[in-house]
Amino acid sequence: MTDDRPRQLARTPPLGWNSWNAFSCEVTDADIRAAADALVETGLRDAGYEYVVVDDCWMASETDREGRLQPSADFPNGMAALADYVHDSGLKFGLYSSAGSETCQGYPASLGRERLHAEQFADWGVDYLKYDNCGDHRGRDAIDRYAAMGDALSSVDREIVFSICEWGRNEPWRWGRNVGGHLWRATDDLVAKWRADPDEFGLGVADALNRMADIDAAAAHGPGGWNDPDMLQIGNGPDSGQSEHEAVDVQRPLTEAERRTHFAFWCLLAAPLMLGTDLTSLSTFDRELLTNERLLAIDQDPLGIQGTPDRRDGDAEVWSKRLADGGAAVAFHNRGDDAREISTHVSAVDVTGGAARYQVCDCWTGNEWETSGSLAMTVEPRDTAIVRVMPQ
Ligand code: GAL
Repeated sequence: MTDDRPRQLARTPPLGWNSWNAFSCEVTDADIRAAADALVETGLRDAGYEYVVVDDCWMASETDREGRLQPSADFPNGMAALADYVHDSGLKFGLYSSAGSETCQGYPASLGRERLHAEQFADWGVDYLKYDNCGDHRGRDAIDRYAAMGDALSSVDREIVFSICEWGRNEPWRWGRNVGGHLWRATDDLVAKWRADPDEFGLGVADALNRMADIDAAAAHGPGGWNDPDMLQIGNGPDSGQSEHEAVDVQRPLTEAERRTHFAFWCLLAAPLMLGTDLTSLSTFDRELLTNERLLAIDQDPLGIQGTPDRRDGDAEVWSKRLADGGAAVAFHNRGDDAREISTHVSAVDVTGGAARYQVCDCWTGNEWETSGSLAMTVEPRDTAIVRVMPQ
């Protein structure tokens, strides 16, 4: 286990698409090709979304005699051909396995066969590995199991982003970088809801934000290693074009306000942005949201700082994130059921202080104005206003 490897990968949070939230265990080769095509056609690739990741269920239920993973009958052309297709679209290719005897859906996984599988992934042209935490752990702790794959990936002749998915159970922000990880899940699975009941599976968007506010993980976050509040649920829900491939645990689509909040906060957190919807039926609203250049610039800011809350009182929240140009992104979030004004002052957010004037830009509308320090936004229920503030 080393932490002195060159860290050229994931200098900014990885952007891409993953099959799980839209296709769960029904994913096929054709779905992945269609997603790659759609990333190109919608302009999402050109906006920066580059990884196409096949999640659980791509593998056959038996390995070969040596223990290598084999593609299931739903991937009849094999994974190398699929990787070629994705690469030919100007994108990068990712696969999934688990640090246990089995994946979460009961398929063969990689514990004890890390080197063999890392070599397979490299031979196939894999650029990204999502590595889950299911199956029998054979008495080995998480750090040991994830380090085994981190070492295997660093020994192969291909640069592969290592996405640790142990749901934040063992505080991976403390050890993720040291085992070669480039991102690590900090939360349980995100579902396409605003809030989930505590006794049901997964977290809603508001629950995930609470979790990200509560854990002490922001210091570990930055170029080469990112806290991951899970993949985006924008576009998912029973009325949002998903009839063919009903996503798991979905009751209703997030409203437009909730989707704005979801995206604004994932950008403010400098989170990895892995799209999780069927891109062949993406709405105009969602496409415009996901390609908002002002928001993506906040997510991809080279300083790589995770936004943190400055104030959370009742239904009004103010969060901010320092940016490389000396400015800051400031988010005003309304948790309540009525529109309200939320205000703060530059002295209370993470921006370089001491200037007489500050330029403010509304990241949704592009409107600009100046202030000597006061910041106030009217925010609809469950919505988020987000501005970029720059000392003059
Ligand atoms: C979960 C993981 C999900 C998805 C799923 C596949 O453990 O958090 O993102 O990968 O397994 O079975």
